[in-house]
Amino acid sequence: MSILYRADAARGAAWASHFAEAAPDLAFHVWPDAGDLSKVEYLVAWQAPPDLLAQLPNLKVLFSSGAGVDHVDFSAIPGHVQVVRMVEPGIVDGMVEYVTMSVLALHRDLFDYLAAQAEGAWREGPVRPAAARTIGVMGLGVLGQAVLGRLAAFGFRLRGWNRSPKAIDGVEGFAGTAGLAPFLAGCDILVCLLPLTAATRGLVDAQVLAGLPRGASLINVARGAVVDTEALLDALDAGHLGRAVLDVTEPEPLPPDHRLWRHPRVAITPHIASMTQPQTAAPVLLENLRRHQRGEPMLGLIDRARGY
Ligand code: NAP
Ligand code: GLV
Repeated sequence: MSILYRADAARGAAWASHFAEAAPDLAFHVWPDAGDLSKVEYLVAWQAPPDLLAQLPNLKVLFSSGAGVDHVDFSAIPGHVQVVRMVEPGIVDGMVEYVTMSVLALHRDLFDYLAAQAEGAWREGPVRPAAARTIGVMGLGVLGQAVLGRLAAFGFRLRGWNRSPKAIDGVEGFAGTAGLAPFLAGCDILVCLLPLTAATRGLVDAQVLAGLPRGASLINVARGAVVDTEALLDALDAGHLGRAVLDVTEPEPLPPDHRLWRHPRVAITPHIASMTQPQTAAPVLLENLRRHQRGEPMLGLIDRARGY
């Protein structure tokens, strides 16, 4: 039995050294030093190319090296191969930091002050207390809940919207299609943390943006395609949407001449909100290998029918 890691080569060394220390009995190979492909039962990869899959007759589990699996072509993966996404503390911490940074920057009008600085203008605005600002999170999964947990410490009013109803202490909950409009109506800052699936592609469209209070802002840290970019630009241009902080765009990388780059009320980062950290992810992978070998459910197992 062996494990094949075929993702970021530089980080592969960190994965290999964790396995060498914590589980020297396991054969952990870093691509292209793949060993005997017929022995590979576990593949850790961002993409699993069909030509590689065809050479792995004993593959049992594909571990996505990231939290999202929207890039995985499930039709190319044999039905008996389980797909598991990355649920690990490093990804969670990175996302909590990024969303907290963005929420606070919007809440304290940092982007307006940077614009004023560029003009050399000393232009004071009011300071609004956190308790007078409502942050709404779409997608109450691992990351959405962690983000809300941290934002609570600042005293913001919190609300969340999810496919299935979820009760979270201190968070006003909304669910499903019927819950979307009332949820949006109270959000000063909307944080998108939905997985990209057939059901969420383009979900944040003109109607959803129009459902936000005038002047509200959007933070998209999910996937670019969850948001309709043209509708976003229209809502910004119309002054309905105050600002957008985008860690993800459609397409990625965003072409240099794309209108989003130059919009004065859009802040863009190149999909770096959070990343798998080998030192915290390797123990989770190890735990999942043990669980699989004991026939127990793995953390982050994907439901292929739902797509997340
Ligand atoms: P997760 O634990 O699977 O949570 C997804 C949540 O979204 C669940 O609560 C789910 O509801 C809800 N949901 C799914 N489809 C929905 C729909 N159609 N309508 C309303 N709610 C829906 O995922 P996660 O770990 O929190 O990660 C979320 C996403 O973050 C990932 O898929 C990835 O795309 C993105 N991400 C981005 C970065 C970055 O650097 N920008 C890093 C990591 C992850 P149920 O409870 O009903 O299932
Ligand atoms: C990053 O976007 C991930 O899905 O891990």
